[in-house]
Amino acid sequence: MSLSKDANWWRQAAVYQIYPRSFKDSNGDGIGDLKGITSQVPYLKSLSLDAVWLSPFYPSALADGGYDVDDYRNVDPKLGTLEDFDEMLAALHEAGIRVFVDIVPNHSSNLHQWFIDALNSEPGSPERARYIFRDGKGKDGELPPSDWPSHFAPSAWTRITEKDGKPGQWYCHLFAPEQPDLNWDNPEVEADFIKTLRFWADRGVDGFRVDVAHAMKKDLSEPLRSQPTLGYENPRLDGKGVFFDRAELFDVYREWRKVFNEYDPPRVAVAEANVPIERMPLYASDKTLGQAFNFAFLDAKFDPSDYRDTVKKSLEIADKNHSSSTWVLSNHDKIRHATRYGLHPIVDEKKWLLADGKTHPLDREAGTRAALAATMFILALPGCTYMYQGEELGLHEVTDIPHDQIQDPAYAGNLYTEKGRDGCRVPLPWASTGSSYGFGSGGSHLPQPTWFAETNVEKQDGKEGSPLEIYRKALALRKKLQGEELLMWHETKNKEVLHFSRPGGWNCMINFRGYSHKFEAKEILHSSAPISDFTLPAGTTVWFKV
Ligand code: GLC
Ligand code: CA
Repeated sequence: MSLSKDANWWRQAAVYQIYPRSFKDSNGDGIGDLKGITSQVPYLKSLSLDAVWLSPFYPSALADGGYDVDDYRNVDPKLGTLEDFDEMLAALHEAGIRVFVDIVPNHSSNLHQWFIDALNSEPGSPERARYIFRDGKGKDGELPPSDWPSHFAPSAWTRITEKDGKPGQWYCHLFAPEQPDLNWDNPEVEADFIKTLRFWADRGVDGFRVDVAHAMKKDLSEPLRSQPTLGYENPRLDGKGVFFDRAELFDVYREWRKVFNEYDPPRVAVAEANVPIERMPLYASDKTLGQAFNFAFLDAKFDPSDYRDTVKKSLEIADKNHSSSTWVLSNHDKIRHATRYGLHPIVDEKKWLLADGKTHPLDREAGTRAALAATMFILALPGCTYMYQGEELGLHEVTDIPHDQIQDPAYAGNLYTEKGRDGCRVPLPWASTGSSYGFGSGGSHLPQPTWFAETNVEKQDGKEGSPLEIYRKALALRKKLQGEELLMWHETKNKEVLHFSRPGGWNCMINFRGYSHKFEAKEILHSSAPISDFTLPAGTTVWFKV
């Protein structure tokens, strides 16, 4: 199959996120790899995907699951080689599936050659100027240069030991200490990332997911401004924050856009920018990255007014901006949506997870059911859906990983106040038996739960009504039904039920938690759970024609 040259292929795409280390292990070392992905191209094809997005597979010591990159233009030897990458890319393209890679521009790892060179050089040297080094405050420089916090540590600053063995300068890291932030005021940094974009685009990569796209540019003028909290709760909207969402970012992205447009079809990008919805257009403009993840929807409760309001707002914003909206329910940073939706809405999910899921009951069945309904709801919306590996099996978060086996730096870094994101990164169950449930012939780098014996690809493949078959049918149908990016809401006279239609008579109705709801239809196309007599039970989505 050859890929079309349609420059708009991304606007309403179904994209599947692969977390390579946990997808499929080809050589039995317990770590997923590129050959593993290649071996599962038929499976990916059976999902009627338009694209996959690969989380980082670059050389990395895994201080942050691969988001600590040692070398942006290579493959981690544990995961394969550049030849394996080319082979995988060719196999995916052959199956009609495009490929996004993850670009991590805010920080490298501390093992990147640039950072090693910076440590071996003098304060004030060009090597240090690729990162954000500063002298400390206090009598002997023993205090951090500013009050900036980190996502994975109390302070964004770590002090180094200079070559003479004395305590020296401090460097900035908005994430783990193993993830030093690059200095985006340095043109060398900007030029190097252009080189990286070209490197992958020349190899045939179709798109880029841009990691923490809101953080690269900082106000580095002296004295450094105070910003004691990350500030997500109380964001600034004027582009003049200290280290997030600053106006200068868009100069960088305008340059990237020029590079993307050199290719045919143009390369595309999606910003992971955790910014208020009003600021999204700046990232998602056709002059910058083109698309941005919709965090408002990811955080929405399984609730009709939350859903309806967020959808309306998101579509309005995308429209103004010539972009298309994105819909996401799960990713590698978030508690799986089957689990979130199976908890009482008042439960603080992160605290619940920290207590290994023991503080409140999880209604697994209701959660999976709501998750499938939610997925079918977003798949019917105009725009692009990003799914996360394993959600097509209705997987829940793994809540019982022993605390001493947690890999996520958010756990120790935040002083054990959160358990972190390993529970959604457990290697996938492909089979009912075997030492790693078909993930590979060896073990699994994170412990898998015993319920994988019941919930896995082998059990669900070909079984009517299984989550996998519901996804397959929905995705295949969506390809045929998808038309213009328009949506019309319909009154249901039931506040728990939302109904909209798309051009061509494609109707979608969801019942959240209400009584069974009677509806009129000529033809039922698909539903997230069995329905009879044109009656939609709670926790169910139906697609139909009238
Ligand atoms: C993004 C990634 C996350 C990572 C962080 C730092 O939010 O999705 O997994 O920890 O950036 O790179
Ligand atoms: Ca492997």
